[in-house]
Amino acid sequence: MIAVALKGRDFLRVNDWASDELLFVLELADRLKARQREHIDHRHLEGRTLGMIFQKPSTRTRVSFEVGMFHLGGTALYLAAGDLQLGRGETIKDTARVLSRYLDGIMIRTFAQSDVDELAAQADIPVINGLTDQFHPCQALADVMTIRERLGEFDGVRVAYLGDGNNVCHSLMVACAKLGMDFVAATPEGYGPDENVVGWAREAAEASGGSVELGHDPRAAAQGADVLYTDVWTSMGQEEERDRRLRDLEAYRIDDALVALASERAIVLHCLPAHYGEEITEEVLYGPRSAVWDQAENRLHSQKALMASVIR
Ligand code: CP
Ligand code: NVA
Repeated sequence: MIAVALKGRDFLRVNDWASDELLFVLELADRLKARQREHIDHRHLEGRTLGMIFQKPSTRTRVSFEVGMFHLGGTALYLAAGDLQLGRGETIKDTARVLSRYLDGIMIRTFAQSDVDELAAQADIPVINGLTDQFHPCQALADVMTIRERLGEFDGVRVAYLGDGNNVCHSLMVACAKLGMDFVAATPEGYGPDENVVGWAREAAEASGGSVELGHDPRAAAQGADVLYTDVWTSMGQEEERDRRLRDLEAYRIDDALVALASERAIVLHCLPAHYGEEITEEVLYGPRSAVWDQAENRLHSQKALMASVIR
């Protein structure tokens, strides 16, 4: 494994990290997963503390970070943003300064990416993005870990993302491009990924030998794909748009007919939570191609590797 120095680094967006750095964390994640299975001690962060600021709900992110920190010998604190003075007007800057005196790392889930960037700029400790409106980099780490675990490689893997070109799509697209995979997104008109992010992904793909394609036809994207990926059609904070989104995204559901177009080795991924009958059918979610439960489990292992790599 290539030795890379990651102590003290933030993880704010996949694009901030080099491919070698991502691979380092992924390899550690595989090793930590094996150690946990074999009950081998891996307390790399004995006595360290992680603050977890949540401004949106969470099941996987909250539990996997908290349990992960416990496995590593440290402690995690759940900090509901509304219960902090942050919710009463204390600035991000002052919050960052004070938390840096108590904690060894901060994980934050919030709305604006700029708030996470500001927190990281003002904090003396590593900041990890646990989801913003624009990105979900920790999810992408678990996603690519699951792809390699199931398919054995990144080279030549064709990943088709179907549905809303959202935060999950953005982080997955850049991660796939950095690791040399062929990524295609099929989204309705008006639901495509951010052009800047597509630009980063295309640049990364050029360097890695991967590719990034955008389109509107879910069947064309699914044809021969090794990974079919979807996410909710209505993300947190978009609840008022739900009726329109259900109508516009109707043709992008992953069902058995779409899975039949994919390659023989194809797996289905979904970051969860799932809405049966909307972006994915219950049959596919629980079907033989689904790798979503491993994918959810891998949030734990990949984030343990991330924390062990960046927290001093
Ligand atoms: N996939 C994901 O981030 O799940 P939670 O919203 O439950 O954390
Ligand atoms: N795109 C979804 C992901 C949930 C994990 C959201 O932002 O709500």
